[in-house]
Amino acid sequence: MKILRTRKELTDFAARCRAAGSSVALVPTMGALHAGHLSLMNRAVADNDVVIASVFVNPTQFNDKADLEAYPRTEQADFELLDKAGVTAVFAPDADEMYPPSEAGKPAHVFDLGEVAEVMEGMYRPGHFQGVAQIVSMLLRLVGPDRAYFGEKDFQQIAVIRRMTATEGINVEIIGCPICREADGLAMSSRNVRLDATQRATAPGIYRVLSESTEYSRTHTLDQTRAYVENAVNALPECRVEYFSIVDAETLREAADWECAPRIVGCITVYCGQVRLIDNITYRPIAK
Ligand code: PAF
Repeated sequence: MKILRTRKELTDFAARCRAAGSSVALVPTMGALHAGHLSLMNRAVADNDVVIASVFVNPTQFNDKADLEAYPRTEQADFELLDKAGVTAVFAPDADEMYPPSEAGKPAHVFDLGEVAEVMEGMYRPGHFQGVAQIVSMLLRLVGPDRAYFGEKDFQQIAVIRRMTATEGINVEIIGCPICREADGLAMSSRNVRLDATQRATAPGIYRVLSESTEYSRTHTLDQTRAYVENAVNALPECRVEYFSIVDAETLREAADWECAPRIVGCITVYCGQVRLIDNITYRPIAK
């Protein structure tokens, strides 16, 4: 596996691959890789000739400085996992390479991300999606991939990235991949390592409640289901729901009832101690 550190190395490498007629995938990550990331790599390796992963903890998408500082960094272990997964090259720049200090004073481009970026994470993490759009658009422009892969745990992020590529005129297929879970149901996340033993034992309750609520939703209204989830998760030790929204999967608008859209998804954010966890579940169509 090639290790690329500069933008020029990345563009040169990607251009050579495209010139050779290879199909190219990009899998952007912030490192601290787990089996969820590896499922994205496996899918990308299966679908494409060349897979370029990126490992970069992007400062502009962190609205909370403490969260940025606490974000786990495990570069060597990440490289080994990527190599084993069959990834062709990893792009792992430092922050000055992506955001040169010489450009620091320049006003940042403001992305038109529409309504999908205003709700949920958009309300609770101001500026977060502008930062995501900034880094993902840069990576897509540098690589020019045929496809880019993202995990559905960050359900809203995928909608925002689709919107960004449309408004910025970036021609790429955005592929969302299913959430990977630990054996006890907890959605895999790089933040899970920050849970202490008690919190780690409690956190799987979030998915347990979400799963139970799909059953509950068959015989209850949307408002009743929302209340059921909020109350049951808030009753878990050390857990506090920040928001739980049941939305049309396409527009991310709050669903009015169970029939209002072909796919309806419940998106939750929970503080488990100081650790912010997110998860989601599909209510309609009902999983068989
Ligand atoms: O999902 C993530 O890890 C990040 O938001 C991404 C897409 C790599 C951009 O920094």
